[in-house]
Parts: sequence; C-alpha cells; structure tokens
Amino acid sequence: MLDKNNEYAPTTVQDIVFGDEKAQRLIADIVSGVMPFPFAGLNGIILFGPNGTGKSALARILPTAIDNIGAQHLQEADYNFYKITAATDGKELIEKVVYQSQLVPMGRFRYFVFDEVDLLGPRIIESLKSVMNYKTTVFIMTTNNISKIDTAIKSRSHLVHMPFADAERWLPTVKWVLLDQGVTVPSDANLSKVIAASRFDARKIIGSTLRLANQLRALGKVQQSASNSNEPASIAA
Ligand SMILES: Nc1ncnc2c1ncn2[C@@H]1O[C@H](COP(=O)(O)OP(=O)(O)OP(=O)(O)O)[C@@H](O)[C@H]1O
Ligand SMILES: [Mg+2]
Repeated sequence: MLDKNNEYAPTTVQDIVFGDEKAQRLIADIVSGVMPFPFAGLNGIILFGPNGTGKSALARILPTAIDNIGAQHLQEADYNFYKITAATDGKELIEKVVYQSQLVPMGRFRYFVFDEVDLLGPRIIESLKSVMNYKTTVFIMTTNNISKIDTAIKSRSHLVHMPFADAERWLPTVKWVLLDQGVTVPSDANLSKVIAASRFDARKIIGSTLRLANQLRALGKVQQSASNSNEPASIAA
C-alpha cells in the first residue's frame, strides 16, 4: 500500500484516474512495452500538472511497472525516491545519485524518482543532465511547474501532462469506494456534484467520498449484502 492513511491510494497504473487521454495512452504504452523506454537517450518521464492529480502517486508506481514489462511474475522494483524541498542539499543529492548510478541495478534499470524536481537549483539541474546520460538509469520526475525545468532535462524525457480529471473520469473510482464502504451508491448526477465540490483534487475527492459514505450509513442507506469487491470495473458499466 502506498499510503498508510489512505487505503484507496492507487497501487497500479490502472488505479490512476487520468485527466488527459494522451497522458493515459502514453503511460499505458510505456508500461506495456509498446513504446520502448528508455530508448535512444530518452530515459526520463516528467509528470507535470496542478496539485492533487496523482503525479507523486504515479511516480512511485512507475518503476515497478516499467521493471516488470514482459515479466511473468510481478516483482517490486527497487527505486530511490527523493522528495526535493527548498532545503535539499542538491550537491549532496547529485553525489549520491552519481554513486548509485554506477552500481549494477537489481532489476532492468536503476530508478530515481525526483518529487518536485523544479526545486533543484539551476547548477544542480546542470549536473543532473550528465547523470541522465548513464544508460542503466531511469528518472521519473514530478513538478507543478514545467516552465522551471531545464530544456536539456526535458529533451531527455517524456513530458506527461497530468491535469485535473473531470467528474466522468472519477465516477468509476468514487462508486467503487462507496460500494467497498457497503453503502448504496447515489446517482451519477449527485456524485458529480461531490466531485466538482472537491475542485477535482484527488485528495479531497477521496476524503469527500468517505464522508459521504458515513452520511449514507448514518441514514441507513447500506447495501443489502455489503460487498467487498475489489473490482472497480464491475460498477463501471
Ligand atoms: N489521479 C489519481 N487517481 C487516483 N488517486 C489519486 C489520483 N491523484 C491523487 N490520488 C490520490 O491522492 C493522493 C495524493 O496524490 P498525489 O500526492 O500523487 O498528487 P500530486 O499530483 O503529486 O500533488 P502535488 O502536486 O500537490 O504534489 C494519492 O496518494 C492518491 O491516494
Ligand atoms: Mg506530489
């Protein structure tokens, strides 16, 4: 589980609600092997977009998804996750990454996740550019601010726009959570209002959905035989 405080945190690419068709297709093509990656010097993926669209969640999912392309049995990939803050010592971080890049990877590649990569200063970004030239490395980066990312880093990366997903895209997940909570599912129109009231921010949508489940339970609106189905597809129809 990705997040101890959220049992509904996505654990696979399929769990992510994408707000952009193109992004969804590109990620699906990368993790299915249709789009060779890394390929021809392109070994980065930059997920960019507003707060609460699943960038960090997807960044943690991608190493395992990429490492298991073509594998019979899914094995958790080993990856280095760096949450960059204004206080991050960029020089020390790059030294660590250079050292780790030279080690033989456990899986197909050595994966680095840089969360909020725009917070690395320009001099550090310059060093990152040369680290990205190691052939056995893959870099997954997230940012709210793509304009702050150096063109050399962008040139070595797929740029994946992660905008807010609309209510229609959220409905299957919201309904699945409500079913899992054992309550009767309100109409799409009412659920769409809950999603819109959360301003399409995933963190708030899941929170509002759980609050709604509590309210429905208090009103006695529960399923006759409470289901614990793990199949969101079963309610998508
Ligand atoms: N697109 C999504 N599909 C499913 N769940 C999501 C999605 N986006 C976010 N979530 C849920 O919300 C939590 C917070 O999302 P996450 O931290 O990935 O957002 P973010 O885009 O990185 O936001 P920020 O820009 O503020 O860092 C996730 O752990 C997950 O539980
Ligand atoms: Mg994030």
